[in-house]
Amino acid sequence: MLATQADRVMALGEWEGRWHENNIGFHQPHVHNLLESSIDKVLAGRTAVRFFFPLCGKAVDMKWLADMGHSVVGVEISEKAIEQFFEENNLTYSEEPVPSIPSAKVYKSSEKNISLYQCDLYSFSSSIEGQFGAIWDRGSLVAINPRDREKYASLIISLMAKDCRYLLDTFLYNPELYKGPPFFVPNEQVHSLFGNSCDIELLQSVDSLTDKQRGWGLDYMTENVHLITPKSE
Ligand SMILES: C[S@@+](CC[C@H](N)C(=O)[O-])C[C@H]1O[C@@H](n2cnc3c(N)ncnc32)[C@H](O)[C@@H]1O
Repeated sequence: MLATQADRVMALGEWEGRWHENNIGFHQPHVHNLLESSIDKVLAGRTAVRFFFPLCGKAVDMKWLADMGHSVVGVEISEKAIEQFFEENNLTYSEEPVPSIPSAKVYKSSEKNISLYQCDLYSFSSSIEGQFGAIWDRGSLVAINPRDREKYASLIISLMAKDCRYLLDTFLYNPELYKGPPFFVPNEQVHSLFGNSCDIELLQSVDSLTDKQRGWGLDYMTENVHLITPKSE
């Protein structure tokens, strides 16, 4: 099953093109229901947690968490997405170059603790913002090119602080019927990517087939939310 999508590649320019054409069906105007229902498990009683959002788009979840007193660092290739995030959430922002990443910029909210890096995710590292206490991965592992999953997992693991609680959203469906993205990520692969250094708990598994996915030709779609935490030494 994995082989079906193994060679699918979406270039960064294609993602930027989607933003320019407003072809962003993945964006949700509300806080993600599975983040909302899992938030207590992610926070585990902690306050002022540093959240990382890989491939953040303009997810309103970032504002929701910042309003609760957490801080957010996101990475997104599309300048348009980042500008829309601040404008649509009525946040003023400043823009600065990032000396250690050529041609990258960081957009910082003036009111909230939100910093969004406009760059390729793979040029980001813990040397830039340190490690994080939580990660919300929605539309990220399932959106990167399948051949890059090991590189992606190494980067994410390197960004996890010892107490990090990483919430990962994945999909199961028949990849013979739809080419993605979102790409199909079986639970076994979540274990092969993260299981050596992390404990993995399947928190939620819900039927997420709607008319949209039926229109893609799918006959089932399951959305899985995993809680991934570094193994204690
Ligand atoms: C499926 S969308 C999900 C956005 C967001 N997480 C959400 O839930 O709405 C994937 C996003 O990743 C961005 N993207 C794709 N590849 C990237 C990369 N290598 N580095 C940075 N951003 C990337 C795209 O522009 C797009 O906004």
